[in-house]
Amino acid sequence: MTMQKEVFGLRFPATVFAVFLLAGCGEDGHDHPEISTGRELFEYHCGECHQETGEGAFLRGIPPVVYTTMTYRQLVAYIRGHGRAEDTRMPAYSSMPKAEAEKIAIYVRRKLKAR
Ligand code: HEC
Repeated sequence: MTMQKEVFGLRFPATVFAVFLLAGCGEDGHDHPEISTGRELFEYHCGECHQETGEGAFLRGIPPVVYTTMTYRQLVAYIRGHGRAEDTRMPAYSSMPKAEAEKIAIYVRRKLKAR
């Protein structure tokens, strides 16, 4: 495949995209084939508010995910907006594939909390 995919104004070879598809994130509604690990996904989707360290922003009322008591399953559901009120300030990633939410949840529980 020599086809190229346009992402954020940059061009990435389709091979990168293919690897991404193999990783099981093919139905991702959003276009970020270059972002695939739990860490990258967390920093991309969540870091803006919760900070890359997961410590949140106290003054903005953003809780530190490093101290979350949520289980892995709860995290996956929470990220995708299941069981959450619609008017929360945290966006519901309802079109995020479960596999991606799972990677983020693993990262939060294993890496961020362990630090
Ligand atoms: C726009 C800012 C914003 C973004 C982006 C965001 N959050 Fe949040 N998050 C919040 C706020 C604010 C809360 C507090 C509850 C609320 O108001 O929704 C919260 C709450 C949480 C909680 C609950 C903490 C607890 O222990 O009760 C978790 C877990 C969480 N976020 C994880 C994530 C993850 C994972 C992502 C990325 C997929 C993410 N957040 C993206 C703002 C954000």
